[in-house]
Amino acid sequence: MINPQLNFISGKGGVGKSTVAATMALRFAEQGKRTLLVEIESNEFMRQSFNFAEPIGYREVQLRPHLYGINLHAFDAMKEYLHIRLKVRRLYEPFLNMKVVRQLLSAAPGLKELLILGKIWHLAERRKDPETGGPLYPFIVVDAPATGHGLLFLKTPQVTVDAVQVGPIHREAKKVLQILRNPERTQLHLVTLAEEMPVNETLEMIAQVQKGFPVALGRLFVNALFPRLDHRWAPSRLMGLRGSENPCLEATLNAAEDMYYYERRQQTHLEQFRQAIYPLECAELPFLFRESIREPELQILAEKL
Ligand SMILES: Nc1ncnc2c1ncn2[C@@H]1O[C@H](COP(=O)(O)OP(=O)(O)OP(=O)(O)O)[C@@H](O)[C@H]1O
Ligand SMILES: [Mg+2]
Repeated sequence: MINPQLNFISGKGGVGKSTVAATMALRFAEQGKRTLLVEIESNEFMRQSFNFAEPIGYREVQLRPHLYGINLHAFDAMKEYLHIRLKVRRLYEPFLNMKVVRQLLSAAPGLKELLILGKIWHLAERRKDPETGGPLYPFIVVDAPATGHGLLFLKTPQVTVDAVQVGPIHREAKKVLQILRNPERTQLHLVTLAEEMPVNETLEMIAQVQKGFPVALGRLFVNALFPRLDHRWAPSRLMGLRGSENPCLEATLNAAEDMYYYERRQQTHLEQFRQAIYPLECAELPFLFRESIREPELQILAEKL
């Protein structure tokens, strides 16, 4: 599969979007491709995962060889926009610190999203060498907002182009839209868990994306799958071991039984998902039985991509 330059990762809340985004970015970087991982108004997933000393902000930092990270805030994007595009300099600082402007940023529908997408556009367009070079970041992975919000986020440029017919905002939105609409440059990858609600929501999203959505559908990831257990784990088989005086053995058998049922349920949902998306395919990522997900765990997941 050819990887586009811009990769948005979305899905329902808590399904592993940030994990998959970091995994994908790490994978590109390990292949020697200069990659930028983008977080949006984040809760520091990237900083913790890569054990980075400082908070990651609006300027790119190098996380690993070939891997860079940035954390985008709409407020910084607004400052930069006024500064670079509208050439507002000394004037903008007091203006931006006004409470009312901060409120406008959160109240004006779509403005925040447009500013952030505008910054992503800018990062995608940056050249290694202004004269001759290819893109500074041939691969960009965006840890996008959760679905619902995630889809609205990517729809903003189209809505803006339709609503605002002329002027700088129209031009900005149109520019972003051009990149989003090009499937060779941009794709949306979705993450789900093999559970009823996330699967149903993901199927709805796939339907929406396939029906006139500005961004092409990329890969589908089913995350956190338990290892396949064979019939030796079936509770009926474990019965023979029960009834001992050993509380540890009983606890272990209970845990094994829970795991067996949970894994069965996951397989049912995975199978339903596979059938519903056919002929599309999904990539499966294992559940990692670790205390937390940090770089070594991301490495394990990256090998599965
Ligand atoms: N394959 C996995 N195995 C084990 N734990 C995982 C796996 N994937 C994600 N997790 C854990 O699940 C939790 C949620 O993952 P993550 O933060 O990536 O989800 P998210 O979709 O980005 O969440 P949010 O919607 O809050 O941004 C985290 O604690 C993460 O470490
Ligand atoms: Mg996240």
